[in-house]
Amino acid sequence: MRLWGGRFDDEPDARMADFTRSIDVDGELAIDDIAGSIAHVRGLGRAGLLAPEEVEALERGLASLRDDVEAGRIAWDPSLEDVHLNLETLLTERVGPVGGKLHTGRSRNDQVATDLRLWTRRAIDRLDASVLVLERALVGLADRDGDAVLPGATHIQPAQPVLLAHHLLAYVEMLERDRGRFADARTRLNVAPLGAGALAGAGYPLDRAATAAELGFDGVTANSLDAVADRDFVVDVQAAAALGMVHLSRLAEEITWWSNPRFGFVHVADAFSTGSSMMPNKKNPDPAELVRGRTAGVIGGLTATLTLLKGLPLAYQRDLQEDKPALFSAVGTLDASLRVMAGLVETLTIDRDRMRAAAEEGYTTATALADALVRRGVPFRAAHHIVGGLVGGAEAEGIGTLAALPDEAFRAALDGSDDAVARSLADAPGIAAELRAAATLEGSLAAADVVGGTAPARVATALADARSRLGI
Ligand code: ARG
Repeated sequence: MRLWGGRFDDEPDARMADFTRSIDVDGELAIDDIAGSIAHVRGLGRAGLLAPEEVEALERGLASLRDDVEAGRIAWDPSLEDVHLNLETLLTERVGPVGGKLHTGRSRNDQVATDLRLWTRRAIDRLDASVLVLERALVGLADRDGDAVLPGATHIQPAQPVLLAHHLLAYVEMLERDRGRFADARTRLNVAPLGAGALAGAGYPLDRAATAAELGFDGVTANSLDAVADRDFVVDVQAAAALGMVHLSRLAEEITWWSNPRFGFVHVADAFSTGSSMMPNKKNPDPAELVRGRTAGVIGGLTATLTLLKGLPLAYQRDLQEDKPALFSAVGTLDASLRVMAGLVETLTIDRDRMRAAAEEGYTTATALADALVRRGVPFRAAHHIVGGLVGGAEAEGIGTLAALPDEAFRAALDGSDDAVARSLADAPGIAAELRAAATLEGSLAAADVVGGTAPARVATALADARSRLGI
């Protein structure tokens, strides 16, 4: 018998039943549904709506269901529509007619809203742990090989040298913001809808706050209509997950380029690579590519949920059942992506020589050289012009780096400047050696000596901060 069947004369059409059931998806909520029911039963007892022995019988039945769910012993009955009706039916089979009292003062509308908040809270805690695993992997690599020098790029063109540790710590910053967004979402979602009933509020004097506290909520929802219709917390988490995936996708993108032999900066471990069915030479960073690819679905899921909500009047509408697939999939995809990227980063091999050789290309120390002239009193714009001339000259002569220019080239460039201070430096003793030192990779790195800059001492501080925050 269908639990809601009293007013119906006819059986559901199979097409309707197939179309509306959600048990294949919301079975995932079973543990949370049982936790919510146990708290609700205790609340009914406190309100005098259940006798102590009824509370005990229901709690015992629910606990046995929880054991069976955890052990994977439950086979859901598809004819029972969703997880809520499945569990209530199973409970009644176990405890007898008292099972019929479970749903007193409760609707599936406040029930599913409660379950989903509990599920999402657990999901956030799981994701937070996984984000930390990846942060530790990045910091571990920074510890191991962080003093390697990378060609920092803008517009994908060689720009200025940076330490590999600095680059990796940029991703740690992104991941820390991700953790913050999930923590914010967790705070906001942690109020209990139970007691809102179907939409108007339960018809019994339930102590909502006590039930909420028992479930670890910080309080109760303030408006029953909002309580059953609100899925903002789903959007919050999907938005945070989408941005988290975007961060991973950017890292994945870099690893695919860096592992191309043209770059040769890194080698992805065999254990995180796949081959080609046709080309025996191939070794592909497929997990990185799939992280990048699956980001699309997580972004799409966020759009789907926002679109789902935009046309819904108050209060509960059945459309809301469609909140779960996208949320569950976003959480599962992000969690798996964090873990596979952690493994990939942990096992990455760095080719410092290749990185360093690339960092030397493209006259990446030009800015540091201009800054050295500014420290000698040359206006920055004149210094920029002088160094631009040196870059052009070196390129024309086939000299690969500014530090490789002869003394005469530095002196001539200063001498030919419009700026009087620059001209006066042309004959300053040791000027060529001074400028050449500024134009080395080490000189350039050391010059970026501000909080958040890539100077080795600054990066060492940032790395120490990250290590202590992560407890490693
Ligand atoms: N399976 C439903 C969902 O996930 C549960 C709530 C159904 N409520 C209702 N009045 N039909 O949204």
